[in-house]
Amino acid sequence: MALRRVAVLISGSGTNLQALIDATRSGRVPARIVRVVSDRPTAGGLARAARTGIPTAVIRPHDFESRGAFEEALDRLLREAEAEIVCLAGFMRVLGRAMVEGWAGRMLNIHPSLLPAFPGLEVHERVLEAGMPVTGCTVHFVTAEVDAGPVLVQGVVPVLPDDTPERLRARVLEVEHRAYPRALDLLVRGRAVVEGERVVVRDERPGERLLLHPLLARWTGP
Ligand code: GAR
Repeated sequence: MALRRVAVLISGSGTNLQALIDATRSGRVPARIVRVVSDRPTAGGLARAARTGIPTAVIRPHDFESRGAFEEALDRLLREAEAEIVCLAGFMRVLGRAMVEGWAGRMLNIHPSLLPAFPGLEVHERVLEAGMPVTGCTVHFVTAEVDAGPVLVQGVVPVLPDDTPERLRARVLEVEHRAYPRALDLLVRGRAVVEGERVVVRDERPGERLLLHPLLARWTGP
């Protein structure tokens, strides 16, 4: 099948970007990462992209007079790259409604909790403070509401008695690296369909559907 053109937005070390690079390069996910864009020139993910020969760009919000102007320029970059799908992978900015709606159904984000629990920042600290027995990660379609939007894939991670935020972050990241390629795969193969507030995943077998649940497929009928 034709490779779908994907742009990845990052702000940091880019380990999720690396998982997406590995999954697309190996042919497991029928997509090609055509551009990596960072809002921070120091983002480690830029080197990961460059090592693989993926074109990169840095676009810094404070070089623009308003958030709107920044997002228009970012949007132009993505369209110039002829991206069809945008993956936010540790991109630590909230995008405005105009930008998000322009990519509706084609923009994904990964968040290190089981949304709708623990949106926002310092997730692992708050999970530990709350005494949660499990946590995880979520890949979802981006909507104008922050850390919300129909969920494609979630991965569950147990919280252990001697966990620190750093230990938990590391174990959640491992699951993120499996969840994001899987979610992108569902999207590029046209198997994920938004119905109302949730995503329904169509199986290859005609007439059957599955609702994706913590990295496991749970059959829902018919
Ligand atoms: C990941 O844990 C991702 O879930 C989180 O930032 C980290 C980026 O790591 N994203 C958010 O918190 C967005 N709300 P990475 O740069 O190594 O992929």
